[in-house]
Amino acid sequence: MAKGFFITGTDTDVGKTVITVALIKAIGRLGFSVGGMKPIESGCLDESAILLPADGMFIRTAAHMEEGIRHITPCCFRSPLAPLPASEIEGAPVDFEKIRKAFADLSRKYDVVVVEGIGGLLVPITKDYSVIDMARDFDLPLVVVTKPTLGTINHTLLTVNYAIKEGLRVAGIVINYNQPPENSLAERTNPELLGRISPVPVIGTFPHLKDMEGPTIEKAAEETLDMSILGQYLTKDI
Ligand SMILES: Nc1ncnc2c1ncn2[C@@H]1O[C@H](COP(=O)(O)OP(=O)(O)OP(=O)(O)O)[C@@H](O)[C@H]1O
Ligand SMILES: [Mg+2]
Repeated sequence: MAKGFFITGTDTDVGKTVITVALIKAIGRLGFSVGGMKPIESGCLDESAILLPADGMFIRTAAHMEEGIRHITPCCFRSPLAPLPASEIEGAPVDFEKIRKAFADLSRKYDVVVVEGIGGLLVPITKDYSVIDMARDFDLPLVVVTKPTLGTINHTLLTVNYAIKEGLRVAGIVINYNQPPENSLAERTNPELLGRISPVPVIGTFPHLKDMEGPTIEKAAEETLDMSILGQYLTKDI
């Protein structure tokens, strides 16, 4: 069975790519070889008719992967939209076979593959297939990335509880400061409250970083993420 995690979030822009990279670094420190993947990316840069996926490229660089970018992001859209409307506008269907093959290749090569989802769980990929269906097909436990601010309790529990109700494994939650801290009462109380009332553990609260270069993400991951929560998924069949 392929080992890895499927990184989802309560929303777009919540910090899935940043946490995907943080987890790639942290799992690497546990002694595993780690690859990353962002199977579908929309809002890609159009460079002389070649679509460049910013998330896929960041993941590829962070994980020091030698694969071509289409192995990491097989499916790219120009439109900054969910895959369903993007594929309708661009007249390009999602190539699931390419995605399956790329994931199978990465799973053979790396001990662990960290896969970044697209938006949140109910983002439509086709008319009757959403991100949650893709997570189920990858058969990887989920990590839910969420914000620390007011409103996050509802969004986080909706995501976590829906995934569990649909029969998916949810390894835990990462609370990510995608914006600089406001030091609000909500920010100060949410991590403890989520830890208390969520059915899955909080893996950590990831700080707002001034830059993403060099060792900053790796250092923050080491200091804030409790990798024993995720480690058990890598060493046992759960
Ligand atoms: N911990 C952090 N520190 C500083 N900036 C952050 C942090 N987390 C996220 N950001 C910034 O917030 C923005 C959104 O983050 P990111 O791209 O990781 O979100 P996402 O959930 O992957 O979005 P998408 O749904 O588009 O894939 C980026 O500009 C990123 O650099
Ligand atoms: Mg992203």
